[in-house]
Amino acid sequence: MQVVVIGTGFVGVVTAAALASFGNQVTGLDIDPAKVASLQEGEVPFFEPGLTDLLKQELKNGRLRFTSSYQEAIPDAQVILVAVGTPSAPDGTADTTYVEAACQESAKYIADDVVIGIKSTVPPGIFSILTKKIKSITDKNFYLASLPEFLREGTAVEDTLHPDRVVIGCREAAAIERLKHLHEPFQAPIVIANPESAQMGKYTANAYLAQRITFINQIADLCEENGADVQEVIKIIGHDKRIGDHYWYPGFGYGGSCFPKDVRELAAYSRSVGQGDNLFNKINELNENRPHLKLQDFAESIGGWQDKKVAVLGLSFKPNTDDLREAPSLKVVPQLLHKGAQVKAYDPMAMAAWRRQVGAKPHLSLVDTLAEAVTDAEVIILLIEWPEIVGFDFASLPALAGGQRRTLIDVRNQLDPAKFSTDQWLYLSIGRKNDQR
Ligand SMILES: NC(=O)c1ccc[n+]([C@@H]2O[C@H](COP(=O)([O-])OP(=O)(O)OC[C@H]3O[C@@H](n4cnc5c(N)ncnc54)[C@H](O)[C@@H]3O)[C@@H](O)[C@H]2O)c1
Repeated sequence: MQVVVIGTGFVGVVTAAALASFGNQVTGLDIDPAKVASLQEGEVPFFEPGLTDLLKQELKNGRLRFTSSYQEAIPDAQVILVAVGTPSAPDGTADTTYVEAACQESAKYIADDVVIGIKSTVPPGIFSILTKKIKSITDKNFYLASLPEFLREGTAVEDTLHPDRVVIGCREAAAIERLKHLHEPFQAPIVIANPESAQMGKYTANAYLAQRITFINQIADLCEENGADVQEVIKIIGHDKRIGDHYWYPGFGYGGSCFPKDVRELAAYSRSVGQGDNLFNKINELNENRPHLKLQDFAESIGGWQDKKVAVLGLSFKPNTDDLREAPSLKVVPQLLHKGAQVKAYDPMAMAAWRRQVGAKPHLSLVDTLAEAVTDAEVIILLIEWPEIVGFDFASLPALAGGQRRTLIDVRNQLDPAKFSTDQWLYLSIGRKNDQR
């Protein structure tokens, strides 16, 4: 099938390469010419495990190419997949202007009966707006479908090639048949729904997962008051089949390119329909404030941040990605600097992204090795559980000059507290009462 994927970011490139690997003729289309040039050379402009190999393989097979020209790409397309960004607008709603622009620009060149599948996460109700905009430009017949994407950065290739399900949100049989055919090689359950259900299903999945993180954080905060250990609590509830032992991540809250903006959109939508006091607004508020409040708590345990030498380990929003969108580091580092700390920051993959997007700041050193970050650190903050960081032998670090005790703040509860029970260490974590405090 002739497929055009519009927007070659995290979702678009993986989708384009995966569809090419199943024998389709795929064009990736992006308005960023530098990105297009780099992808055409087989270079992925961000870090995603396994993607470069898949991309190079499909470029070599001649099934995949990239362009920034709608005029060149769109006329032959049988299916157009829109995977442009939908960031939060200032009022919390999803900004759909990129999706609208992609549809309008495509409309100038579409062939009759093309299927336009929206993979971007968009609010229910957008199809009436998109339909009007496309019809104002073309007389050609077209079908709109919602194809929400559920991949996770860090495992995006695996998630795309072997999805838990494929959702086709569409009311028209002809378009459903074509999209079913396109997705058959994925060998996943296909859920056919109306477009609004498909879109609401995507928001529901992200809001539910975000809620799980917020929920266990609330439990963790109570554990800190009463001697319970949140990791033991998770084991106890995990045996309950209704609950499960997966996806419990006490810490500084959720970040990333999706959960924060999708919960915000649901919260904004709730307000717009007079349900503003519901769960989604509260989740959003709790998550926004959490890194700030937890840093304040830890400051009390260590006598404040002023003049402390602090190593911050893990700048991306989660392991195995260099994506900084809504990463906890973006709140933690500025707050530490504001409170007078001297910060050394390290990430196995996101240093270049940090230098590009945030840059240098007074009293902040961006270092190239983990050892360099921690050697003279009085406080080490394990912020993101990259394997390299979790596997580092912190307990063997030499004592600081003058026999001063080091503090290790294990934000993701990854390390064994018993290893830090010596006088040389103060070990602090989440959801456990620390007797040393
Ligand atoms: N990143 C994820 O893990 C993930 C997972 C599931 C769903 N989603 C959703 O998928 C969508 C895309 O997310 P992403 O993270 O891949 O975004 P991204 O920001 O990485 O990439 C978007 C791309 O679209 C391009 N673009 C913008 N306007 C364009 C236009 N008019 N024509 C052509 N290209 C255009 C940009 O240049 C950019 O390369 C969002 O709605 C997001 O919520 C993302």
